[in-house]
Amino acid sequence: MNWGSATLGYYGVGAAAVATSIATLRKRLELSRAKHRSLTGHARIARRLARLLPFYEYGEERFFCTDGAPAEIADRRRHGFERLSKLYRTGFPETIRCTAEAARVLSDFQFTAAYRVPFQYSRFVRAHLPSASFVQSSNGVTLTDLDGNRSYDLTGSYGVNLFGYDFYKETIESGAARVRMLGPVLGSYHPMIVENAKALQEISGLDEVSFHMSGTEAVMQAVRLARYHTGRSHVVCFCGAYHGWWGDVQPGVGNPVPARETYTLTDMSEGALRVLRRRRNIACVLVNPLQALHLNTAAPSDSSLIDSGRTAHFDKARYSEWLKKLRAVCTERNIVLIFDEVFVGFRLAKGGAQDYFGVKADLVTYGKTLGGGLPIGAVCGRGDLMKRYRDERPADICLARGTFNSHPYVMAAMNAFLHRLKTPEIDALYRGLDQIWNERSSALNTRLADENLPIRVVNLSSIWTVCYTQPSRYNWMLQYYLRAEGLMLSWIGTGRLIFSLNYTDADFGVVADRFIAAAKAMQQDGWWWRDPAATNKSIKRAVLKEVIAHFLFSPRRSTKR
Ligand SMILES: Cc1ncc(COP(=O)(O)O)c(C=O)c1O
Repeated sequence: MNWGSATLGYYGVGAAAVATSIATLRKRLELSRAKHRSLTGHARIARRLARLLPFYEYGEERFFCTDGAPAEIADRRRHGFERLSKLYRTGFPETIRCTAEAARVLSDFQFTAAYRVPFQYSRFVRAHLPSASFVQSSNGVTLTDLDGNRSYDLTGSYGVNLFGYDFYKETIESGAARVRMLGPVLGSYHPMIVENAKALQEISGLDEVSFHMSGTEAVMQAVRLARYHTGRSHVVCFCGAYHGWWGDVQPGVGNPVPARETYTLTDMSEGALRVLRRRRNIACVLVNPLQALHLNTAAPSDSSLIDSGRTAHFDKARYSEWLKKLRAVCTERNIVLIFDEVFVGFRLAKGGAQDYFGVKADLVTYGKTLGGGLPIGAVCGRGDLMKRYRDERPADICLARGTFNSHPYVMAAMNAFLHRLKTPEIDALYRGLDQIWNERSSALNTRLADENLPIRVVNLSSIWTVCYTQPSRYNWMLQYYLRAEGLMLSWIGTGRLIFSLNYTDADFGVVADRFIAAAKAMQQDGWWWRDPAATNKSIKRAVLKEVIAHFLFSPRRSTKR
């Protein structure tokens, strides 16, 4: 080689390196642009900031006037608070006692009690409005606590309770009766499993099925299969979407280590589609259709309700269009499209979200209600994607186990569930489903507006969330007024109300009356007093200032882990 050609060669290598770096940079930029601008969309930053957030609290003197309310309003709030506190202590003594005892040994109780309201208020609230998390029985759409108080159930048991608790008592009991002779034998199966798999094949329109013990495990398996068959590493999730608590699908706060092989992208965005088109390392896209109600935000919890910025809106046509686009890109790029229907499966339609939005996925995960009241996770998928070994490479397998997978009692309760799904009685519950729940939410909203109450509900069928129409720092108090009126909410509070489909118009009427009564009491107690200059932005800014001041000047500051 002479010097001339060597120089040319170096130039060539240099030019190729520059071109590669430009291409890499472009891809990086595309990825950055495809992230949602919120902290939820930037998991790493969110996790870092979460570690820095200092604890501080208002204490009694500031508790009632953190929004600058005058003394007269603070007094009204204090009286209302004391009245509620007395009502809790006299109305739920045994339930509270039992919850407090449980909290000493059950870490979950401590956690949920601490995170019902923004942390600055939490300790004072816990001291005076203690959690009452025990129930002794369910009946129709009501739950009875240890003190005999009957409340209307808006918890929906995390979404499991779709057809009413009595329905599940029957599926569990009739299922158990059918497998009593077998007992808890694992590894061999009861023939009912075949019937269940066939029923799910029909419902999902997919070829094969696998059973797991929870929704989280079903998602783990779906992602693992996608990685195995595509030979690619990365998972795409959309900002705010919950897919269980497994690390790879929980990139943000709550997971102590970063999810390095997860891209969290903006839901319903061209930027996300661009990333899917361009990147070669994407194995699958996970979609939780519940996000259609609150795009790009996490499950709305009252612990983060520091102002009235919570928003929700559901547009079925637009979300269906989006899913179709996503489907097309996934097909084009050979990316596995996974619908995580653990929550919404069976709730939106008998055929689940695929049926409801008219889009077919490659893999679908189900859970919650499918177990007929017992713990379950299931994956349904295309035959080629469900295969866990390669004929031509016998050692290259995709493992998925679980001692309790396909437990006979779970299979039996599921079998009863799937049979009942075909009955006219359940068919009737699905008839006009959206219309029923849309009419109920709009009737409640009309009443709320007529009463001049600063709340509106937004729904995706029977899944509801409460939004607040004027800036306030105290919206989280509503959960305590609702409980006092006999409406039982889950620990995330007013962010999510889940109705079972056996709610009649009469039942709903009672809930609506109590909802209005609770909101009116809260209004009368002055919690929604408003400084006319306050906006959600100004509230956020004020809280941020407090946080920074505590971070800088708190003597107990420690950011080490
Ligand atoms: C969409 C979705 N995926 C997965 C899960 C996890 O299911 P499990 O709690 O049964 O592990 C949930 C639970 O709420 C969910 O809503």
